[in-house]
Amino acid sequence: MSQSIPRHIAIIMDGNGRWAKKRFMPRFVGHKKGLDAVRKVIEGCVECGVEALTLFAFSTENWKRPADEVNELMKLFMVALDREVKKLHEHNIRLRIVGDLSGFSSDIQSAVERAHQLTEGNTGLNLSIAANYGGRADIVNAVQSILDEAEPGQSIKLTESMISQRVALSDIPEPDLLIRTGGEQRISNFLLWQMAYSEFYFTNMLWPDFDRNALLEAIDSFSNRQRRFGKTGEQVEAEKNA
Ligand code: IPE
Ligand code: IPE
Ligand code: MG
Repeated sequence: MSQSIPRHIAIIMDGNGRWAKKRFMPRFVGHKKGLDAVRKVIEGCVECGVEALTLFAFSTENWKRPADEVNELMKLFMVALDREVKKLHEHNIRLRIVGDLSGFSSDIQSAVERAHQLTEGNTGLNLSIAANYGGRADIVNAVQSILDEAEPGQSIKLTESMISQRVALSDIPEPDLLIRTGGEQRISNFLLWQMAYSEFYFTNMLWPDFDRNALLEAIDSFSNRQRRFGKTGEQVEAEKNA
């Protein structure tokens, strides 16, 4: 049987701080190492023919961290935008940052704008970085935009598709596979709406250690699962053989 490759992989890149702590180094060293893992996973996804990759880089709750760490993360974000975007473009990768960009400095906002403009026509891997992103805020914004479009006094009948069309990443298939590193088994306000039927894969590996092989293992686990979407296993088998 040929391996089934997820069309869209989403990753909660967790464990940078613990990776550094184990080595008696400051947390930001873990974040820096984490960027190397990001490169490897992008390459792995391109190699496997994954269509979309979404990486959780900074949640709306991560502002609660010590100011020093937040500053380091912002610096790293800027450096990554400066250094990596050209390479991504050369590989035909489309880069998008999803989340509330208004929370970032104007330098970061312009770098994001340039990256979007440069890569928006690319047809290879669809790479999204979730930064200052929260799943609940995403749903609230979607509903708010429906209300904003309504005429005064108009009563609105909400449907799922109205929301699906307005949340982040509405133009690409929903994540088939969610990977979370770092041993925690929770969603931490990531793509709540979009992951209604994603397969979850948790690993104790800390994010800076994640590499091509770890990605292949996660994909292998995915390809051994039966996605039933509410049906029985027998129904799904029968449809596959039809
Ligand atoms: C994930 O690693 C990166 C971000 C949340 C920005 P952590 O920094 O959460 O690492 P741990 O969980 O403390 O080890
Ligand atoms: C989730 O990791 C967010 C990112 C990886 C960007 P956290 O480390 O912030 O999650 P919690 O706080 O352990 O749930
Ligand atoms: Mg963490």
